[in-house]
Amino acid sequence: MTTKEKILLLLSQNAGTMYSGQMIAEQLQISRTAIWKAMKSLREEGYQIESAPNAGYTLIEKADILNEVLIQQKLKKQLNVSVLPTVDSTNEEAKRLMNNGKNEDSLVIADQQTKGKGRLGRTFYSPKQTGLYMSLGINEMREDADPTLITTAAAVAVCRAIEKLTNLQPQIKWVNDLYLNEKKVCGILTEGIINMETQTIQSIVLGIGINVMIEPEELPSELQNVAGALFEETPSVTRNDLAAAILNEFYELYQNMHTKEFLEDYRKRCFVIGRRVSFIRNKVSYEGLAVAVDDQGALVIQVNDGTTTHLSYGEISIRLEEKNA
Ligand code: BTN
Repeated sequence: MTTKEKILLLLSQNAGTMYSGQMIAEQLQISRTAIWKAMKSLREEGYQIESAPNAGYTLIEKADILNEVLIQQKLKKQLNVSVLPTVDSTNEEAKRLMNNGKNEDSLVIADQQTKGKGRLGRTFYSPKQTGLYMSLGINEMREDADPTLITTAAAVAVCRAIEKLTNLQPQIKWVNDLYLNEKKVCGILTEGIINMETQTIQSIVLGIGINVMIEPEELPSELQNVAGALFEETPSVTRNDLAAAILNEFYELYQNMHTKEFLEDYRKRCFVIGRRVSFIRNKVSYEGLAVAVDDQGALVIQVNDGTTTHLSYGEISIRLEEKNA
């Protein structure tokens, strides 16, 4: 850890507390000049550090600046964390890191994505400083974990983390979108990497994109009616804390995935059940009633033609007249 990171950690763990230069120097075993330089550099990065002669330094506000150390300190499982100001796609960067041969799980977070990827070949709008764009690269899937349920588990993990840190209660639109006030605030894109020898999914990249704070008018016009954000004003949570909480919740579920216990929570949060929906399969459009989510995370639909189908991938639309009824 660099001197700057050590100081940031100390001040952020005790935000509001005044630390004299001498206390910091003694605690971290560094010179007063090193402290002064680090404070200058932290202020330049945007941290609000107040100082008073003969009193010391204090971090007056938890700035929402993505930072590796501030994420690591909250993580229950140690990960190889990279924070980037900008990247094409955190999912792509996580894949590149996997190819470097390191075996531990890695987390890539970026302040902005220039080619954020959505499902079904779409793009994910990822402007700077407004969202949390993160990808977890799991090199070796646990043998007892079902890769097809990763997205389902992640949706529950994100809901739980948001609920723990805020007073918000997002809901899930099958299969992987989180909604708040009828607007999509989070999307999840899981990509699997197949081991050709065993023909099994060996590694996965779990990508999560959350609109943390964005004014509706800042969204591209085509998204204004469908996308929203967790907060419309200054968020009450930092992206560092949110990222760490999501990962902690996710690993908790991942380690016990074989029990499938999280599916009960998923079903409670999934607002699609009981709604009339439409979906497209093999270029044909169908309508029906969504009645359940099965143990494989598939949506069970009683189709209007009298059949019952288990939809395991793809996308559904909720019939508007039913939603407004
Ligand atoms: C969707 O809603 O279709 C899925 C969106 C997933 C977006 C996240 S943002 C972080 C990660 N990197 C990407 O390029 N995509 C995912």
